[in-house]
Amino acid sequence: MKHVIVSGGSKGLGLGIVKSLLQNGYHVSTCSRTKTNAMTELEDIYSCFQWFPCQIGDAQQTADFVKSACEWAQDVPLWAVINNAGVAKEGVLASFPNLESDDLLQVNLNGALYLAREVLRVFLRQNSAGRIVNISSIIGTRGYTGLAAYSASKAGLDGLTRALARENGRRNITVNSIAPGYLDTEMSSTLSDNKRQQIIRRTPMHRLGSVDDITPAVTFLLSDGAAFITGQTITIDGGITN
Ligand SMILES: NC(=O)c1ccc[n+]([C@@H]2O[C@H](COP(=O)([O-])OP(=O)(O)OC[C@H]3O[C@@H](n4cnc5c(N)ncnc54)[C@H](OP(=O)(O)O)[C@@H]3O)[C@@H](O)[C@H]2O)c1
Repeated sequence: MKHVIVSGGSKGLGLGIVKSLLQNGYHVSTCSRTKTNAMTELEDIYSCFQWFPCQIGDAQQTADFVKSACEWAQDVPLWAVINNAGVAKEGVLASFPNLESDDLLQVNLNGALYLAREVLRVFLRQNSAGRIVNISSIIGTRGYTGLAAYSASKAGLDGLTRALARENGRRNITVNSIAPGYLDTEMSSTLSDNKRQQIIRRTPMHRLGSVDDITPAVTFLLSDGAAFITGQTITIDGGITN
């Protein structure tokens, strides 16, 4: 039995990851700022699932979340963390308020770093191998008009992935990013119909991605077969960045 921590599992991609990990037999704990009905329903169905309130980006809350999650999992060792919680805010940088870009970077980049640090401390205490998967974005490598802060946060996350992979390889801890293209979740619901159609036209697979297009890669990176894959950013985007 293995315990996996997922940040931002209350909806969207995070919820899909939580469900697929539960179906694959993992103990799963997740967090978000607000508890959704899906969280209550999963807690009712699975005794090996628990939701915790936590504001990712707040170092103390993140430390408390990891501590509570590991206490809840009892003697099931922590195997992996999926750094999924993220926010996107659109606006050209010249008119983007400092507070908004600070908040975004705090959640998407510092938040992921804090959570990785707490989980690495647990791996050290357990003297165990482990897996870290960071949910990045193709916007981190390609950029997108109106998403400068978001793009910077995801490029930073990919840098964190590469550095942590080097730092922790000897302890059999792998660290990888998954960079999805545009997914049909709440985050992309603010896309105008024009932009959505433009993205679909430019995507060789001719559609937006779904949560189910991404979750198999997450479970693969947690499997024995992925033991020698580290420091990589795996793009899953229907070919749009070809
Ligand atoms: N949708 C896309 O097109 C797309 C494409 C590429 C990459 N991604 C990445 O995929 C990840 C998931 O995105 P999504 O589309 O599933 O977004 P989503 O539907 O908006 O879900 C985001 C999740 O993160 C949680 N969250 C946000 N801020 C948080 C915070 N400060 N502390 C704790 N939890 C927080 C949300 O819950 P609360 O709001 O209740 O906290 C929710 O559970 C993100 O990292 C995103 O950047 C998305």
